[in-house]
Amino acid sequence: MNRIIYTFGLLFFLFHLNSCQEQTKNQPQGNSTPNSDAIEKQIDEILDSMSLEEKVGQTCQITLDVLLKKNEENKAIEPAEVDPAKLAEAFNTYHVGSILNVGSHTLSLKEWNGIMEAVYAPFENGETKAPIIYGVDAIHGVNYTINGTLFPQEIGLAATWDTAMAKEFGDVVAYECRASGIHWNFSPVLDLGRQPLWSRHFETLGEDPYLATTLGEAIIDGYQGKTKDGMIDPYHTAACMKHFVGYSGTNTGRDRTPAWIPEKYMKELYFPPFKAAVDNGALTVMINSGVVNGVPGHINHKLLTKILKEDWGFEGFAVSDWEDYIMLHTVHEVAKNHYEAIIMAFNAGVDMSMVPNTPQYQEYCQLMIKAVKDGRISEERLDDAVRRILRVKFKLGLFEKNQNQADQYPDYNSEASKEKALNAALASITLLKNENDILPLKKDQKVLVAGPVADDLIFLNGAWTHTWQGADPKYNTEGCKTIKEAFIDYIGEKNCLYAQGAELFVEGGWGGYEKSKLVASNDYKAKARQADVIVLCIGEFPSTEKPGDIKSLNITAEQIELAKMAYALNKKVVLVLVEGRPRIIRPIVDDAAAIVQTYLPGDYGAEALVKLLYGEVNFSGKLPYSYPKYDGILEFYDHPRSVARAKSNAFDAYDPQWDFGYGLKYGTIGYSNLKIDSDSIQSEKDVLKVSVDVKNQSEMPANEIIQLYVKDQFASMTPAGRKLKRFAKIPLAPQEQKTVNFEITLEDLKFVDIEGNWIAEKGQFNVMIDTLSKRFDYK
Ligand code: BGC
Repeated sequence: MNRIIYTFGLLFFLFHLNSCQEQTKNQPQGNSTPNSDAIEKQIDEILDSMSLEEKVGQTCQITLDVLLKKNEENKAIEPAEVDPAKLAEAFNTYHVGSILNVGSHTLSLKEWNGIMEAVYAPFENGETKAPIIYGVDAIHGVNYTINGTLFPQEIGLAATWDTAMAKEFGDVVAYECRASGIHWNFSPVLDLGRQPLWSRHFETLGEDPYLATTLGEAIIDGYQGKTKDGMIDPYHTAACMKHFVGYSGTNTGRDRTPAWIPEKYMKELYFPPFKAAVDNGALTVMINSGVVNGVPGHINHKLLTKILKEDWGFEGFAVSDWEDYIMLHTVHEVAKNHYEAIIMAFNAGVDMSMVPNTPQYQEYCQLMIKAVKDGRISEERLDDAVRRILRVKFKLGLFEKNQNQADQYPDYNSEASKEKALNAALASITLLKNENDILPLKKDQKVLVAGPVADDLIFLNGAWTHTWQGADPKYNTEGCKTIKEAFIDYIGEKNCLYAQGAELFVEGGWGGYEKSKLVASNDYKAKARQADVIVLCIGEFPSTEKPGDIKSLNITAEQIELAKMAYALNKKVVLVLVEGRPRIIRPIVDDAAAIVQTYLPGDYGAEALVKLLYGEVNFSGKLPYSYPKYDGILEFYDHPRSVARAKSNAFDAYDPQWDFGYGLKYGTIGYSNLKIDSDSIQSEKDVLKVSVDVKNQSEMPANEIIQLYVKDQFASMTPAGRKLKRFAKIPLAPQEQKTVNFEITLEDLKFVDIEGNWIAEKGQFNVMIDTLSKRFDYK
């Protein structure tokens, strides 16, 4: 029903506005379409009619908690409900333009619908000139709505190397967001996973810019739905690429601490996923809360205005991160008070501020108004920001009435969506070791499922699940299985023993560090003795941002001890890793019979794991990062040759636990016959055709990810060891062989030189697939 209202409404609106041919002020350059012309015209009219206070309100984002009805203890009442007095203050006095998140935990669809009705009412009743835009961090599913379909976290999606799957993920998440009335998703994270200590490593698409770019584009296609005119239908959401830019490159590994990123690496590594997202129409961006090269992200005019908006032509709006104008004063110490902070951030290019609490939001609006009146923020800059915000609201169709039509989303958490989440988990879980073919397991083996992460969904999902830190089991999705439960379902209670072995916890709550302690070791050992195989599930306590800061990448000592106890009993041990970042497990790798990385596989991760371990489905995931072996050595796959130089001067010192792109499967895939159709590239127009034969040498169907790397042999700046330039994922029936074709061009040979320009230098190159390599020249 609503879809019909939407379509007719929009058609009428566009017809009406298309009749106005006149070019409008501040119109975006470039991709102007009849629809965008019409939208700009409409925005002109709204801007002309808005007071200063109303414009400022559009740039203000508050958290839902500000509006919720509270009890005497100042806790949100349940079921959650909007307080009319607080709503009136936010909308009628401060004209707030955006709301985010939930109070403290996941809500039912019914609660969301009630809230949405309340927060839309001021616009629907004609009390405000623009509707609100509502955003949440639905980063691996609509995480704040009960029964939202929860997929693997982004790092797991990256391990699928599957663009179709990434788009499908985006589609489901967008649909379920809209079912909850939410039209803006603070996702995807496009920060590069180059600092495994960082608590948000799991939110990234891994260490490689090409993989992150390709999958990032696909996720955005899924979120926004790809339409020619850039309009978003009621089943899709605005994407928010974040956090622009360099947030993940923190030197200390701790959240929101400084990064040093030279221009070369900014351009080669950190920019590409964002640039591609802008080209792909991403509607919004969130700013880096940290500091890059001494400048806090929120006051970096060069990055926000010059590069993002002017050079790249980004037409959407930039939202600050949580409380960032306050942090410019209190944490980064670049502004002597909040007033100066607001001016610095807004003038640098931040369009909307995630203020987001009370009384800060009232203060923000008052200070913004003062700054414009004092002439410290120009009216043009304010209009530009509001225009950008209204543009996104128009593209989302939010000016249409009746946004909140819950019954229009019958496929919320449908069986089909759950199957997609299960398939994503199946495709991401990565086999890292399988000695003497211990896997697949046999159904008649007696298995001890053990370890601190084996029997709670919080470990499979990680942070941003039902609550910010995702650590409260009270909100776990009903009906979804823990690893222990999935084993029992699959092999029956008789063949499945369970012992926790150790407990993972955070000492003293949020401020504390992750710890573990042994639990009933004798029970664990007694059950281990009875088992044919021990599936030991180890990993991390759920966390993100500051609460996720750790002191060392080493996995906790007690988890190492659990493995060693099992080895001491001469038992076959399958180590199952459930972790957001790669934790050092070197001391227990050699004696493990098999090792499986599940990342944070989501609500269906346990089912997927069991299907893979018993060989019902073949493994296909490959690591989207280099898995470190030592706490003191963090290396990446594209390291220059010097990184591999040993003390003896030999070149063999590059020694990760597992390399980027690594992943085993049942059976072997053979690569042969690497061919190139020419021995040189001579100009921008030339296309080098590359082909390789890939054969499934086993009797089990397989999906294989084929990775193509290019190596520049000599260059005026030390070249990367190799760079991922293409990949493909293909299904192979037993014994099937396929020829896979790729094309590369001069673009793929370029690097950023000392002046900061992308150039290609003549000379020798190699194209490499698996262990095969072919030389060609750029002449
Ligand atoms: C995080 C963002 C998130 C925002 C809203 C911040 O603390 O850094 O990634 O989108 O909160 O929840």
